[in-house]
Amino acid sequence: MSTALLELEHIGISFGALKAVNEVNLSLREGERVAIFGPNGAGKTTLFNAITGLNIATEGAIRVAGVDITNSTPYVRASKGIARTFQITNLFFGLTVEDNLLLATRGLKNTKFSFWKSSNSNESENAVVDSALERCHLTKKRSIQVKHLSYGEQRQLELAMSLTSSPRILLLDEPAAGLSAVERKVMADVIRGLPSDLALILIEHDIELALSLVDRVICMYQGQIFAEGSPDEIRNNPKVQDIYLGRRNRA
Ligand SMILES: Nc1ncnc2c1ncn2[C@@H]1O[C@H](COP(=O)(O)OP(=O)(O)O)[C@@H](O)[C@H]1O
Ligand SMILES: [Mg+2]
Repeated sequence: MSTALLELEHIGISFGALKAVNEVNLSLREGERVAIFGPNGAGKTTLFNAITGLNIATEGAIRVAGVDITNSTPYVRASKGIARTFQITNLFFGLTVEDNLLLATRGLKNTKFSFWKSSNSNESENAVVDSALERCHLTKKRSIQVKHLSYGEQRQLELAMSLTSSPRILLLDEPAAGLSAVERKVMADVIRGLPSDLALILIEHDIELALSLVDRVICMYQGQIFAEGSPDEIRNNPKVQDIYLGRRNRA
């Protein structure tokens, strides 16, 4: 019997009287790509936070490859292969693209504080950085200071930084938000080109973009999953159209 890579079982997350996430079940296999749709306030980001450890689920269980991580620290979860995109505010704008990636590479290791001493010293780190740059279409920008990147390139860099820990499960919270049509297309290509064994959960308001990237979609509303299916099933689900698809990009 194969164990799911990520398993959420009856997850509930409450903030005082507000039940932001309610009875969510989700199972993700290696390499599987899932989108989560839902209007603002549906509980999507809160669910991500419960997976990464920013919030602790108040009900239910979360497992990675069969190991319970429901109450684990973010660090433990990261070491088990869970990563999410950094927010742009986590980028160092005065540093180069490469140095931002080196910092991210060292984030999970105890060499973290030797950054200033040993720039460019480690071959395996450089290989990780090279691979992340290439995957995120940033190789030519390696020596550019982050403040000189376009907004779209900054978001590509966030994604590149999340890849430096070689995750097994990557959570992307609205990676195309605020991007122009051209930048969105680049981001879609980058996501499409991610390693095929990397499992992905994508929160995205650009529905057509998301549907072109995933195997399965989960629709949330008021903290609960109300529909689940293949991209085609979701496109043709009248309930989904009512609650969400009719209000594309602004829901
Ligand atoms: N730290 C928090 N404290 C209190 N309420 C919160 C907190 N985080 C989120 N919420 C509430 O939980 C609900 C779900 O929010 P969120 O997960 O951000 O929705 P989504 O990402 O789907 O837009 C919202 O009603 C939001 O106001
Ligand atoms: Mg959100």
